[in-house]
Parts: sequence; C-alpha cells; structure tokens
Amino acid sequence: MSTFEPNIVGFLCNWCSYAGADLAGVSRIQYPTNMRVIKVMCSGRVEPGMVLELLEAGADGVMVTGCHIGDCHYISGNLHTKRKFALLQRLLAKTGLEPQRIRLEWNSAAEGQRFANLVKEFTEQVRAVGPTPLKAPTPDAAKLLNTRAALAAADGFRLRALVGKEEKLVTEGNVYGDKVAQDEFTEAMDEAVETEFQVHRIHIMLQERPRSVKDMAKQLGLQPKAVLGYVVALRQRGWVDVKEAVEGTPLYAAQ
Ligand code: FES
Repeated sequence: MSTFEPNIVGFLCNWCSYAGADLAGVSRIQYPTNMRVIKVMCSGRVEPGMVLELLEAGADGVMVTGCHIGDCHYISGNLHTKRKFALLQRLLAKTGLEPQRIRLEWNSAAEGQRFANLVKEFTEQVRAVGPTPLKAPTPDAAKLLNTRAALAAADGFRLRALVGKEEKLVTEGNVYGDKVAQDEFTEAMDEAVETEFQVHRIHIMLQERPRSVKDMAKQLGLQPKAVLGYVVALRQRGWVDVKEAVEGTPLYAAQ
C-alpha cells in the first residue's frame, strides 16, 4: 500500500460547505487530515488561476466546494463556479497534469457526513494518481512551463472576461437580448484557451532568453508557422520584439 500522503487544499464556501465541515467536526466524524482549508464567502470567488497557483506551488490536489445549485447565498455564485471550473479543466488539460487532481463538489451545511466522505474520496483519488510532478526541487520542466502558462492565461483579461460573461450571454443574452448558443460559446472558449495558453508559453520562454521561432517550435512541439503566428500576436500586444538577428534569423525576446 502507498505511504504517500497527498497535500490537498480545499476551498470551502462560508455558508454551506464550511458549515458542513464544521458539522462533521462537532459530530466527531473521522476523515483524513490531508486537506488544508481555505474559507471563501462563496465558491464563485474561486478563480481558475487560484487553483493553478496552488498546483504550481506543489499541491497534489485542490477541491472546490460550494452550496448546492439553487442554494447559493449570492443567488448565482455557484453557477459562475461551474463555468470557472470548466475553464480550469480546459487549462489543466493543457498542462499535462492529471484531471483527477482537481474536483468540484456541492455540500450543504447539514451534510457533515457527506463532507467527510468527499474528503476521504478525494484523498484516495489523489493518492491513486501519486505525488505532483511539480514538486520542488526537481519539478518536471515541461509541465511546470505549461502550468505557469495556464496560470498566466487564466489570470489574463481575455479568459477572465469570457468566463465572466458566459452565464449571462448563454442564459439571458446580450444587451439586445440575443442569446449565444452554448455550443458556439464553447467553441469560442476553446479557441481562446488554446491561443492564450500558447501565447503565454512562448512569452515565458522569451522571458528566460532570446530565441528563434524554429528553436521554440522544436521545444514546444508546434509547427514553426503556428509559433510565428503567436509571436506576431505577442508583438502586437507589445510583449515581445526582435532582439537581434543571427545569420539572418531573428531572435525574439520579451520586452
Ligand atoms: Fe456557497 Fe455561493 S455562498 S456557493
């Protein structure tokens, strides 16, 4: 049997999940002690970047819990949580980290036993996938770069704006009352996630040292044409520029 004890972080909303955890405690229900708790007023407060930052720092798993749908004390907070979590799953898939390292659950204040069961289940789930490959001092370099890029993408304006507007646009519509079909929105989001992830991967690499498009394409496993497109996008944002040319090949560097 594995002796690995996962380091897990749990975000608990104040009004339901945290109260459920409290109930588990006062009811003396036994459950693993692997989870460090962060109390938030609503699960909707948990941004994808917050979870990715914990994973980057070496957490083996992160669980987000909130009130059951329909019970959020801020009406629609947990509806936003669902959409933010879906974005987090998309970004996590890019990093190469296992999807089992994150979990979203709903738990009411009256469900002490359920809370204990969730912590137990999630601890076993993370134990089964093993220690994080991002643990210092010898993290997996490629996965660390990917996780940093995913974190930067999650914290960037484009994805935050998209996910922030998603619930309203697909359920109520824009200011003219025009709704966006969920499929259409998902497609736009997928494209935005891929672009932002790749752009940030390249930006992080160029912060380390100047590189050519060919060099980056080789390291990232992408076509040079695709990398050139991302470099053009980065130049338009004013984040990178040509540093020098070596034998006619431009080397780019972060500004
Ligand atoms: Fe619990 Fe919003 S208050 S999820």
